[in-house]
Amino acid sequence: MNKTKMFVITETSPFMMSYVIITEAGNCVIVDGGRPEDVPLLREKVKGRKIKAWFLTHPHFDHISAFNQLVQDGDSDFDFEKVYYNFPDGNTFVSKDGCEDWESLRNFNAILPKIQDKAQVVHTGDEIQIDELKVEILYHYEEKYFFVKPNLNDTSIVFRVTTPRSSVMFLGDLGPEGGDILVEQGEEKLRAEYCQMAHHGHGCVGPDVYMHIQPRVCIWNAPAWLWEEEGVLQDYRCYGTKRTRWWMEKIGVTEHIVTANGTVEIEL
Ligand SMILES: [Fe+2]
Repeated sequence: MNKTKMFVITETSPFMMSYVIITEAGNCVIVDGGRPEDVPLLREKVKGRKIKAWFLTHPHFDHISAFNQLVQDGDSDFDFEKVYYNFPDGNTFVSKDGCEDWESLRNFNAILPKIQDKAQVVHTGDEIQIDELKVEILYHYEEKYFFVKPNLNDTSIVFRVTTPRSSVMFLGDLGPEGGDILVEQGEEKLRAEYCQMAHHGHGCVGPDVYMHIQPRVCIWNAPAWLWEEEGVLQDYRCYGTKRTRWWMEKIGVTEHIVTANGTVEIEL
């Protein structure tokens, strides 16, 4: 029998997040997909397989602009059965903020009519089975969690993918406030062997989230400059990558996958 595999895809664009999971049956699941420049590597890993599910963590350009472009182009290599996501209300949210961060959400809303029958909004507590993969949605953004207008990163969905042998936690770009809500799920729900480090490893969820996950291996979607970023405070509750690396050292993680070093294949 084939083994479950996951490709952690390296950046072609300056920074991004893109994963391909291949199931025992040879089907594939994509997480995010990065930007249009990252499509050639994504295409290579998908290689004409059936895409059973596409998960979009949040609507930032470094996560979903490849998806938007592929749908807009009607690229037949990327026909998919379902796309799972939970984005904030585009029109009200977008108009509150003129920042270009929102452009990819606007683009997603523009292509949505083309994929309406495949689009599924997920919520905390949902479980999705795809071949041998169990996907548990552990967090979705709700306005009531925040006193102030949240960063778009905090609208990331968080989910754990479990196979009969292993598990991966996808934190998207979740920030500190979102992390405060996520830990309420408790250790049992959060524990995972592999952990995609939130927000490329910097300015992300607090150390308590990682203490709950207790990963054996950390996965950093970080180009070299971000991997080496000093651990000083960059913004409110937002520390550079070296601070997160120090937390992981304290938790006892010794194995790290860093996308700066190339695409990595993992057996799950
Ligand atoms: Fe990102």
